[in-house]
Amino acid sequence: MEFPKKRMRRLRISDGMRRLVRQTKLSADDFVYPLFVKDGSGLKEPISSMDDCFYFSPDTAASEAMEVASLGVPAVLVFGQPVKKDSTGSQAWAENGVVQQAVEQIKRAVPELVVITDVCLCAYTESGHCGVVKDGKIDNDSTCELLAKVALSHAQAGADIIAPSDMMDGRVYYIREALEKNGFHETAIMAYSAKYASSFYGPFRDIADSAPSFGDRKSYQMDPANADEAMAEIALDIEEGADIVMVKPALAFLDVIRRAKERFDYPLAAYNVSGEYMMLNAAAKADVLDKDAAMMEVLYAIKRAGADIIITYFAKQAAKLLK
Ligand code: PBG
Repeated sequence: MEFPKKRMRRLRISDGMRRLVRQTKLSADDFVYPLFVKDGSGLKEPISSMDDCFYFSPDTAASEAMEVASLGVPAVLVFGQPVKKDSTGSQAWAENGVVQQAVEQIKRAVPELVVITDVCLCAYTESGHCGVVKDGKIDNDSTCELLAKVALSHAQAGADIIAPSDMMDGRVYYIREALEKNGFHETAIMAYSAKYASSFYGPFRDIADSAPSFGDRKSYQMDPANADEAMAEIALDIEEGADIVMVKPALAFLDVIRRAKERFDYPLAAYNVSGEYMMLNAAAKADVLDKDAAMMEVLYAIKRAGADIIITYFAKQAAKLLK
């Protein structure tokens, strides 16, 4: 059909018309809000590298979780900052570790909120690596055994979903086995399946105090130039027992999100990471763009690309706008 029979502007002419033909719908249901916890009580300490983000203690994390739930956001993702680090990251599976305590308190305060826990060693090891270092290298299989212990301790504390972010081979298999063996048949796994070695984790590494003390993460996180490999990673995690798979970061990898959604009929999460969040905040602070509008545009892009679940530091702000 040609002009003037076809005029594309007819369906853009009013807000009602635009709402009527809007293809991608966002709601608070799409979001997961990350929470950072450390030891103590009554804590709400601003995080210098991340605007409007705080360290909570287990008790204040529970109150924050209540607010998140009241905004209609269905889930939180809990990260911990241990009291002390060691060579194996043993605080990660300590029964009274900070994540374990926070999970218990959040579940007690808001049972209906889905609690997801990040499973990794990087915030807990002296090396800052996501795995155990042996002879200067990251040892895959012994790391998987420890990650399974971490996952089990989170499930015991009441976590609904375990989210391994380390990128070791076979870790989903090890974790699923440990959960099944110990009766946690209903604890789900959200695997950080296609996780890239990205510079966009910069602000997060400040928060988690988890920058590697030597080398980088390129021997386990993916090369940003590759997309076929992401499909292979996702396929393996599904076979090993992941219930949800993930692409991370989101914005520089929208094509990977789209390919994953087309290829696998499977729940797909995307992580709108710390650097993506701060990039936008910094531009807004410099007064060069409208933060709310840019935030919504980015969230629409991630959803439109194919993500079913968006993990984002914008979750609360966006949920308020969508109310
Ligand atoms: C831990 C982990 C990281 C992030 C989530 N889990 C950092 C990393 O791999 O270096 C990044 C989150 C963000 O940047 O928002 N492995």
